[in-house]
Amino acid sequence: MTTPAGLTTLPFDAYPLRTDRLMLRPLTDADVDDVFAYQSDAEVVRYLPWPVRDLDESREHTLTRAGFTRLENDRDALILAVELHGEHGDGDGRSDEHQTDERQTDESQNDAGVNDGVRGPVIGDLTVVLESGELAQIEIGWVFHPDYQRKGYATEAARALLELAFAHIGAHRVLARLDPHNTASVALCQRLGMRQEAYFRESEILKGEWGDLAIYALLRSEWEAVR
Ligand SMILES: CC(C)(COP(=O)(O)OP(=O)(O)OC[C@H]1O[C@@H](n2cnc3c(N)ncnc32)[C@H](O)[C@@H]1OP(=O)(O)O)[C@@H](O)C(=O)NCCC(=O)NCCS
Repeated sequence: MTTPAGLTTLPFDAYPLRTDRLMLRPLTDADVDDVFAYQSDAEVVRYLPWPVRDLDESREHTLTRAGFTRLENDRDALILAVELHGEHGDGDGRSDEHQTDERQTDESQNDAGVNDGVRGPVIGDLTVVLESGELAQIEIGWVFHPDYQRKGYATEAARALLELAFAHIGAHRVLARLDPHNTASVALCQRLGMRQEAYFRESEILKGEWGDLAIYALLRSEWEAVR
């Protein structure tokens, strides 16, 4: 189904999205341990409206978010797990102990046509929110395990996310909301070609304190020009 602005609101068959080193596919219940590995890190959630979670809290949060698979009504969300390709997972990032546990055959992924056998770790996740179906506006967000930050993975995944938003979903404008003091997230927006459109002072309460909010955005025409 498409909205008047041309947005595809029903599930689409773009998955899995593949990049040189990554695979993007819907988050599943089986990803709990990997998600917990970064949701339990205070530095990772510093600028997110999330607490540091224990395993049970991460499980509950992941089960809930694994159900976010459709963009139908405004504020509906899709959550995409960012998985390393097998060949990039070996010896890259986390400890051997952690990686060995994750190198297992995952039948559900075979069923989904996502992977042919050995799965790599989920190193982060991406959020896609239908801001407005009528106006074809999509909000995006990202979080990555610290062991996999500053290796270009977030940029690689977010570029695929823009491709998904513009080419598959049909967005007219993609935006990100972030704390402007989150320099890594600001730099990521800038690498993606997103412009700062707004800066609101103390318009949020983050971790119990007033926080600023920046809006970065990219229009379809701008994305097509730099693609
Ligand atoms: C925001 C966040 C996703 C940004 O991730 P990131 O790791 O900085 O971004 P990238 O993975 O694209 O890495 C970019 C860096 O990797 C470097 N890099 C190393 N190898 C690279 C490669 N092969 N290709 C591209 N870049 C590479 C780049 O030069 C760049 O370095 P720089 O930071 O010194 O400029 C990450 O900091 C994060 O998850 N933060 C916690 C959650 C959060 O705050 N989310 C946002 C809420 S709004």
